[in-house]
Amino acid sequence: MMSRSESLERMPAAADPGVTAEIAERLVALPRSRLVTALGQGIVGLHRIIADIRLSGDELLAIVAFLTEVGHHVDRRRQEWVLLADLLGVSTLVHDLSNARPAGATPNTIPGPFYREDVPEMLAGSNISRDGKGEPLEVSGRIQALGGRPVAGAGVEVWHANDQGVYENQDPHLQPEFNLRGRFRTDAQGRFRFLTVKPAGYALPSDGPAGRLMIALGLPPVRPAHLHFRVCRKGYETLTTHVFDRADPAVDRDAVFGVKPELLAEFRALPPRGGRPCHALDLEFVLCPARAGDTEPNGRK
Ligand code: BEZ
Ligand code: FE
Repeated sequence: MMSRSESLERMPAAADPGVTAEIAERLVALPRSRLVTALGQGIVGLHRIIADIRLSGDELLAIVAFLTEVGHHVDRRRQEWVLLADLLGVSTLVHDLSNARPAGATPNTIPGPFYREDVPEMLAGSNISRDGKGEPLEVSGRIQALGGRPVAGAGVEVWHANDQGVYENQDPHLQPEFNLRGRFRTDAQGRFRFLTVKPAGYALPSDGPAGRLMIALGLPPVRPAHLHFRVCRKGYETLTTHVFDRADPAVDRDAVFGVKPELLAEFRALPPRGGRPCHALDLEFVLCPARAGDTEPNGRK
């Protein structure tokens, strides 16, 4: 068992010999737990920042007012705390730390708030654009295991924003139910394909304190154009990921830090149809084997 002084040494150096040391001492006197360790490190780190920048009383009041406003922007339809965590990179950091994939496997990313699990399965080649608005996009892809073996019978879900950067469930009065959402199954070669329209990039809400903070910093909360995918197959870890348009001007400043080099794709130009530009996307996702005891979403093994 660690002595009291040994545990204190493991805490970050005290920022102020008075109050910082005193709270650290009170914490190390408590029974060890993850909560106590996390709070100890968090509080001592916070004290150190306050001392380093010499935070003033007025600045502390401004921070309290900001956090209060974040709380006032939470209701059944909105979660400003989650948005703040997303915009500060916290959501992606936490996700990446617990979802590392072996080299060669497609990286996992946060799903974001617009996923729906109740989308019906569709036949290969179906069009998921239910209002036909936008520039046609033909998507074909292949699911494989590490080592290259095709994964047949995998469930492939896709969801994305429309050509104005808006998801169907943000826009229920203007877009048909399940617009730009689909669920497909891979064939014996691990292939899937569907038709849709090219999504636009979009801005996350900036009518609340989290978005306003980013704008005040000169970091508007934009997301480059992307499609979201979720791929499930028994025996493999479920993959939740994005595919980003590498030509989007915002590709190197994604507001939620989801862009990774392996997730960039080229929207190839196809000959225009009826005067409309057309595009194609060829994708490949690599799954890794499930770890012992892994359960797929909805409890499916
Ligand atoms: C999205 O809109 O795709 C998204 C938003 C916040 C976090 C992650 C994804
Ligand atoms: Fe999205």
